Formats: sequence, structure tokens, C-alpha cells
Amino acid sequence: MTKPMLFEPLQLRSLEVRHRGWVSPMCQYSCDADNAPGVPNDWHLVHLGSLATGGAALIVAEATAVSPVGRISPRDTGLWNDAQIEGWRRITDFVHAQDNGAKIAVQIAHAGRKASTYPPFAEEGGYVPPERGGWQTLGPTDAAFGNDAAPVAMAEEDINGVIRDFASAAARAVAAGFDALEIHGAHGYLLSSFLSPLVNTRSDAWGGSDEGRMRLPLAVIDAVRREMPDGMPLLMRISATDWHDVEGDLLRSIEFIQRAQERGVDLVDVSSGGNSRQAPIRPGPGYQTELASRIRAAVDIPVGTVGMITDGRQAELILRTGQADGVFIGRAALADPRWWQRAAHQLGYDLPWVPPYQWPQPQNAY
Ligand SMILES: Cc1cc2nc3c(=O)[nH]c(=O)nc-3n(C[C@H](O)[C@H](O)[C@H](O)COP(=O)(O)O)c2cc1C
Repeated sequence: MTKPMLFEPLQLRSLEVRHRGWVSPMCQYSCDADNAPGVPNDWHLVHLGSLATGGAALIVAEATAVSPVGRISPRDTGLWNDAQIEGWRRITDFVHAQDNGAKIAVQIAHAGRKASTYPPFAEEGGYVPPERGGWQTLGPTDAAFGNDAAPVAMAEEDINGVIRDFASAAARAVAAGFDALEIHGAHGYLLSSFLSPLVNTRSDAWGGSDEGRMRLPLAVIDAVRREMPDGMPLLMRISATDWHDVEGDLLRSIEFIQRAQERGVDLVDVSSGGNSRQAPIRPGPGYQTELASRIRAAVDIPVGTVGMITDGRQAELILRTGQADGVFIGRAALADPRWWQRAAHQLGYDLPWVPPYQWPQPQNAY
């Protein structure tokens, strides 16, 4: 059989990504919030390490906060201090010690008005009040997300502080040995909320028009890119639409990605939603792929797609029909950290680089 497209390499600047099956960033809510806030630990090593040994080509580590107030929950990972660099270094070293060429990126993030919440599996749910270890959140305006606490509308100095925090986190990510960075511009978190006309109703230079709403995310891209070596790729995750005005949002997203590409973004990771609790969204297999495909037709950088891609044949079809350049696997990879090996088997292809984890074949019976 000819080599599946899923297993073709992709070059991003000086990074060769061994194939087109990647791991989508997924919060683990597993830091010790009291004794080592934001520091990745054994849980993260086993979680990310199993994906690296399982055959993923590029693993994007979870939304990692650029500052303590940028955490979604008190148990998120961070990159705002040097102890966190050491924690991450242990993980990047493990990934690079494998001889299968696995690469690892980190998603740097600020949760904005959706910060200071309990992990989804916690009994309490919702906003963590200050007396339980929560904090005052920040947003484009003081409008809350659903029943979360109201954020403080960010002043100019808060905005400049966030840009500096993204730059420092990028420098720490480079020091921690990551192969690439992803900026989190999706799901209603800070940068996504600034991009969204539903949320960003500011009338100053950081809102008021498409131009104004793009200003903070573009400034973050510039600041982050300055801290990165030239050969290191920068990925940007966006919510292509909030599902209320799909066509209008897609035009805005395309305009944004064209600008982002001029400023040194190398791949767009197309997700959706997160700014509105009432989004009329109907998830199903590959439900965001059409968004990726529409964006791919209008931009000059590779496009990743994500969302209920669970099967190797489904991934191969997406790539063969030119809807995207790569697939990010989320929950299916949590359920099966060796998803890539299963996908190869489904496509009749032997992954050469995952021994001793070989798919059982009668001819290599033990
Ligand atoms: C446990 C969990 C944590 C997640 N954390 C993040 C995150 O940190 N950053 C992000 O951009 N998306 C996050 N997501 C969304 C996933 O990256 C992915 O876009 C989504 O789950 C859809 O893909 P899937 O159907 O393959 O799981 C998370 C999803 C899950 C299930």
C-alpha cells in the first residue's frame, strides 16, 4: 500500500514533524495548587510521555498560563517562574530521548474572564471565590461569562502587562526545551474574547472595529515571536466562529490569520466556540473540519483541524480531500495514547518507529 498521507512529514521552519497526526492541547488540572502552583509533575510526565512513546508526531501540551491570574483553574500548569521551567524540562527531555522523533510544543494561554474556575470534574463547579484560592479575573469589559464572576475591564496597563507576560512565558518555553509554541487564541479565553465582537464591545483602540479587536492578539504574536529562535515554529489556535454568525466570523478569522501569517505564525489550529454559552453548536464527527477547509482555501500557511476525529480512515480522508494539513487528536488520544499505531493498522501501514509497541501480527507471534 502507498504510504498514507497521515504519515507524511511536514516541515515547519527548521522543525521536521514526522507525520500529520498531532495531539491537541488538553488541560490536566493536575498541578499541586498549594505547594507547587503551575509546576508540571509526574502526572504530566506520564500523560505526555505516553503520547510520545505511542507514536504522536507533535504533542501540544495543555493551556499553560502566562501568569497566575491567567489560569483556568488553580491546578493549571504555568510558565511564569523558573521552577516551572525545570518541571517542563524533565518532560521535554523525556520526549526527545525517544528515538521515534516525537516533538513537543506548549500552548501558552491567558484565561481572561473564564479564569479562576474549578476543574470540570470537581464537585463544586463554576467560579472559585478568593477565600477558596480563586482570584479577580480580567476581561475586555466587565461582562461575565455565564454565571462566572464579573471580570475587571482591562485598562491599558493591564493589556500591556499581558503582552509582557506572553513574551516572558515564550522565553521560558524556549528555555524549557520545547520544539514549538502555540498561542491560545480560542475558546473564549482572553485573546479569543478580544477577537470576538460578541464580547469585545470596547470603544477604545483595543476594540471598536475588526482592526481594534485584532490588536491585542497581533501584539502578542509580535512579542512572542521576538523571544523565539528563527527556526522555531509558532502555531496559533483560534475559534473560527462562535456559531452565531458563521460567515461573518469566517471572514474575520481569515483576515486575522492573514495578518498573523505576515507576523510569523506558521500554522493555524482551527477550533471554534467558547465565547457564548448559547452557541447553537452541534458537535458530531469532524464537525469543525469544514471551518478548517474554508480557512485553508484562503491562507498560505498549513492548517490543522480538530474535533471528534477518532479513526485513522477519517483522518486520512480529511487529509486526502485537502481539508487540512494535519489532524489534532484530543479525547481519542486520552482514551488510547497509542492511537497512531491503531490508525496505522487501520490504514494497512506499519509504523516503523514505535517498537516494542507493535500491532500484533500472526507472523511475529511470541
Ligand atoms: C480534558 C480536556 C482538556 C482540554 N484542554 C484544552 C486546552 O488546554 N487547550 C485547548 O485549546 N483546548 C483544550 N481542549 C479541547 C481539545 O484540545 C479539543 O479541541 C477538543 O477536545 C475537540 O477534539 P476531540 O473531539 O478530538 O477531543 C480540551 C479538551 C478536553 C477533553
